[in-house]
Amino acid sequence: MSQSVRVLAAQCCFDIIDNGLSMSEALPRAQAKLSNDLDKALLQEICFGVMRYLPQLEAATSQLMVKPLVKQLRPLQFLLYVGIYQLKFMRIPDHAAISETVEAARALKGQSLTKLINAVLRNVQRHPGIFDFNDAVDAVRFNHPGWLIKQLQQAYPEQWQDILLANQHKAPLWLRVNANVISAADYSAALTAEDIEHQQPIAAMPTAIVLKQAQDVSQLPGYDLGWFSVQDAAAQYAATLLDVKNNHLILDACCAPGGKTCHIAELAPGAKITALDKEPKRLTRVHENLARLNLKATVIAADAAQPDTWWQGQQFDRILLDVPCSATGVIRRHPDIRWLRKNNDIPTLVALQQQILQHCWPLLAPGGRLLYATCSVLPAENQQQISDFLAQHPDARLEPIQHQPDSTTIGWQILPNEQQLDGFYYALLVKDSKD
Ligand SMILES: C[S@@+](CC[C@H](N)C(=O)[O-])C[C@H]1O[C@@H](n2cnc3c(N)ncnc32)[C@H](O)[C@@H]1O
Repeated sequence: MSQSVRVLAAQCCFDIIDNGLSMSEALPRAQAKLSNDLDKALLQEICFGVMRYLPQLEAATSQLMVKPLVKQLRPLQFLLYVGIYQLKFMRIPDHAAISETVEAARALKGQSLTKLINAVLRNVQRHPGIFDFNDAVDAVRFNHPGWLIKQLQQAYPEQWQDILLANQHKAPLWLRVNANVISAADYSAALTAEDIEHQQPIAAMPTAIVLKQAQDVSQLPGYDLGWFSVQDAAAQYAATLLDVKNNHLILDACCAPGGKTCHIAELAPGAKITALDKEPKRLTRVHENLARLNLKATVIAADAAQPDTWWQGQQFDRILLDVPCSATGVIRRHPDIRWLRKNNDIPTLVALQQQILQHCWPLLAPGGRLLYATCSVLPAENQQQISDFLAQHPDARLEPIQHQPDSTTIGWQILPNEQQLDGFYYALLVKDSKD
C-alpha cells in the first residue's frame, strides 16, 4: 500500500467530520489523487471503516493519550484512527500498518509526533483489552450518536440493537435487470457464464439480483448495453407499487439521480413521465441514466412544493414522492450519515416533506395513486407524517401494501438488512374517485 492512501484517508475523514463534507464529496476528490484502482478501493475501505467505528477509535485513542491532537494537528488525530482501524479490522500485517502510518505522519507535517503515533499504535497492538467496549456507553458500544440511538430505542424497543448492528454491515450490491432488454433469467445465465455468484432472493421481484461479492459494475455483462441498473431491492419496490401503465401521466417529483424514474419508464415505456428535482446539478445524472437505458422522460429543475411554477394543469394518474429525508435507513451504505445528520435536522426535513406532500396531492387525479417513500427509519418522517396527512385529507385513503407484515400499520417500514435490503418506508395513498 502506498503511503499516500493513509494520508488521503486521514484528510478525507477530517474533511467529513470537521468540515462537514459528505463521503460522496470527499472520497472521490481524494481518490482522484490516486492512479491505482486497488489503492482507490483501499482508501474507500479505510474511510468507510473509520466512519463505522469512529467512537471506538476515539475511545481507544483517548485511553492512550493525555489529550487529543487539536487545531492544525487534527488530520493527525484522524491518522491515528486510520492506523488503529487497520490494526483492528484489516488483514494488513501489523508492522506494515504501523510503519506506514508513522510515515504518513511525516507527510502530514507531523514529524515531531511520529514517536507518539508509533507508541499509540504499538499499545493498541499489544493490549487488545484497549479495544474491548462491551461495557461501554451505548454510543461507543454501537458506534452511533446518542440522539439517534435514543430515537431508535423509542421507535423500536425490541429491535433497536439489531438496527444499530445491521448498520455496521457492508451493504450488498443489488442490480435491477432491465426486463425490456433482457429477461431476468437470461441475465442470471449471463452472470453464471462469467462465474459471478448471485441470487434472485425475492420471488415477487425476479429482476432484483444480489451479487455475492461487490465488484466494478462497469465490468458486469451488458453495462454499456443498458441491461441493468444498480439499485437496492428496497428501492425497486417503488415503481412496482405504483402499478404504472403505458397510458398513464406520471410525476416523479424528487427524481435525482433517476433510479426510480428509469424503473418507472422501463415498466411503462409508453407513459408520459415528468421527472422533477430541485437541484439542477443533480439532474445531469438523470439525463445520463435515461440515455444509457434508452428511456424517455421530461426532466425539469423545479420545486415540487411550488407547482404553480411548473405544473401544466393536467392531473397525474401516478405520483412518486421519494422525498428528501434523514437517510437513516441507508447508514450501511453511507456510514458518514450518522455523523453528518443532526437531531435538529429532523423537524426541518419533516416540514419539507409535509410541504411537498401537501402541494403535490392536488395534482393527483381522482382514483390515482401517490406513493410516499423515504429511506428513513424514523417514525416522524414516516408513519407520523402519513398519519398527520390522512387526518387533514379526507379524500386520501391508505392502501395496505401486500408485502407489509402487518396490514394494520400505517405504511410499510423495511428495516436495514431485513432480507438484505436498505431501510426504506412506503405509504401508498389513493385519492377518492368522487373528488
Ligand atoms: C431521496 S432523493 C431521490 C432519489 C431518486 N428518487 C432516485 O430514486 O434516484 C431526494 C431528492 O429530492 C430532491 N429535492 C429536495 N427538495 C426538493 C423539492 N422541494 N422539490 C423537488 N425535489 C427536491 C433532492 O435534490 C434529491 O435529489
